[in-house]
Amino acid sequence: MCGIVAYVGERECAGILVDGLRMLEYRGYDSAGLALHTGRGVEIVRAVGKLTNLDQALAKNPLAGRIGIGHTRWATHGRPNEANAHPHVAGKVAVVHNGIIENHAALRQQLEAKGTRFSSDTDTEIVAHLIQEAMTEGAPSFGEAVRRALGRVKGAYGIAAVSGDAPDEIVVAKDSSPLVIGVGKDEMLAASDIPALLAHTRDVIFLEDGEMAVLRKSGATITKLDGTLVTRAARHIEWSASQAEKGGYKHFMLKEIMEQPRAIEDTIRGRINVSEADVVPEEIGISVALAKSITRVYFVACGTSAHAAMAGRYWVEQLAKLPSTVEIGSEVRYREPVFTPTDLVVAVSQSGETADTLAAVKAAKAQGAHVLAVANVLDSAIPRASEGALYTHAGPEIGVASTKCFTTQLAALLMLAVYLGRRRGTLVQDEARRVLGGLLRGAHDMRTVLEQKDKIQFIAKKFHRSRDMLFLGRGTGFPIALEGALKLKEISYIHAEGYAAGEMKHGPIALIDEEMPVVVLCPKDAHYEKTVSNLEEVRAREGIVIAVCTQGDAEVARLVTPSISQIPSRSPRQSFALSEPDVVEIPEVEPEILPLLTVVPLQLLAYYIADYKGTDVDQPRNLAKTVTVE
Ligand code: F6R
Repeated sequence: MCGIVAYVGERECAGILVDGLRMLEYRGYDSAGLALHTGRGVEIVRAVGKLTNLDQALAKNPLAGRIGIGHTRWATHGRPNEANAHPHVAGKVAVVHNGIIENHAALRQQLEAKGTRFSSDTDTEIVAHLIQEAMTEGAPSFGEAVRRALGRVKGAYGIAAVSGDAPDEIVVAKDSSPLVIGVGKDEMLAASDIPALLAHTRDVIFLEDGEMAVLRKSGATITKLDGTLVTRAARHIEWSASQAEKGGYKHFMLKEIMEQPRAIEDTIRGRINVSEADVVPEEIGISVALAKSITRVYFVACGTSAHAAMAGRYWVEQLAKLPSTVEIGSEVRYREPVFTPTDLVVAVSQSGETADTLAAVKAAKAQGAHVLAVANVLDSAIPRASEGALYTHAGPEIGVASTKCFTTQLAALLMLAVYLGRRRGTLVQDEARRVLGGLLRGAHDMRTVLEQKDKIQFIAKKFHRSRDMLFLGRGTGFPIALEGALKLKEISYIHAEGYAAGEMKHGPIALIDEEMPVVVLCPKDAHYEKTVSNLEEVRAREGIVIAVCTQGDAEVARLVTPSISQIPSRSPRQSFALSEPDVVEIPEVEPEILPLLTVVPLQLLAYYIADYKGTDVDQPRNLAKTVTVE
């Protein structure tokens, strides 16, 4: 999420580090900073906001040195202010960090008990203190001190650290967060992403999880965290700068779709406890007393976030047995909605800045309702206007069409529903354990869906010339049908509608003919039989069906016969027989996890259709990522 750059060599490095950070700005930023060995020890300069602010701070306070680390921050813990900006310093040690330290609260307590004073709210500062403590306790080298510190840390990290006691070295390490070493001539670099290295070298070594490296200008010594030496040759990469930004993917949207398992893991990390069948209360943003006393949950959101809120509503009703409703932000603000002091208004917004949602939050607050924000951007307007915030940890989303923010919103709302259910006694322990266990396995299950991307591309090739498309789903499949249609409209400009499958016979069925692809979400859930009969109704009217069903569902595969007439003469992958049914399979999972999985094929379908049509996938016409106007 954040960006890390490090340099050790013979050149003055402040400019090299800032230029490297500039190549990572697409990852999001709210503050930035450098730490350099200046000859007077390790000195830091930090600034809130864009990198130009760091430039200005460095102009006033120049740092001269040939070894240093830099960071651009996308806040996950602690407000985006200067105190929370990286690098974080403890004694002679400075650290930059990307990721989330899961056991930060326990470690902070231990350190505070020994008299450590903290100057920020971040989890990163803990790492700096742990390293300094290991140095003070006599670790034989800086690398060894980092190793000992990381042995105490649980969570995800990519770090780079320097110490006044090791003036020739930088130590980098990673676990579940990217870190790549750049091999130069008489210099070594490191970064969280390749673009930051490309101006200096194309020879890179990818660190693996659980590895660390000591960088000197003469080279890198890589070891596992247990100290075992690792030998790994550098790889030469040919990516252009823009390919590198996208991690080699053609578009940010595809990269973000593929990143979803990681984003889900980051969102639930440290927040659920399956053995105790519960959610960590401090992570949810509303107090136990409030959770017990509310009488209604009123979701407010726009667009894709409103679709996540619709799924949230189903879960709150099912698991917490609370009356619940979903309203579109732009409608709430122009109605005369009635809120009460026992309402919990949940404002869902990835940007946290959507004007209509913010206005609804203000209206709710004015009537005394309690407001919880579910947002991806820390300290944005909606969380600031709310009593509490439950942040998703999707990281910056660059593609205008929301993908990973949506699935992380689903994960967050499911945690919220479990939390409410447990506090209110409506969700028994075994049931909570079942749901949370399913959520914990969700990222893994999602990876198996993503593995079918070539097949989905094949289906997209067949149907990319369609004029219209329908999406049908029941239960939590209904908001996913709406989301699938919205994704397709947004980026391919194909007219699409999402319907509750049960509504078909009340009108939309009139649209079905041999020209109309209908995407049917029919995983094996409580609604399976009914949805399959809707599928049969479509087939009976010569409609073409693309099904998203449970792995090995022979019945759906039989019903979904492909329409050969729709298949273009050249298929993208001959490995898929042309007569193969247009079916995407998802693994058998707990029913609450289904929406997180069934949406993935729809995102990929929209993406590939748009790509075949040659639209501007990442910046579709007329759309903006953050809608701060009415
Ligand atoms: C669609 C999309 C939009 C947003 C909507 C609300 O892909 O991204 O529909 O969901 O504009 O935005 P946020 O979530 O920032 O409030």
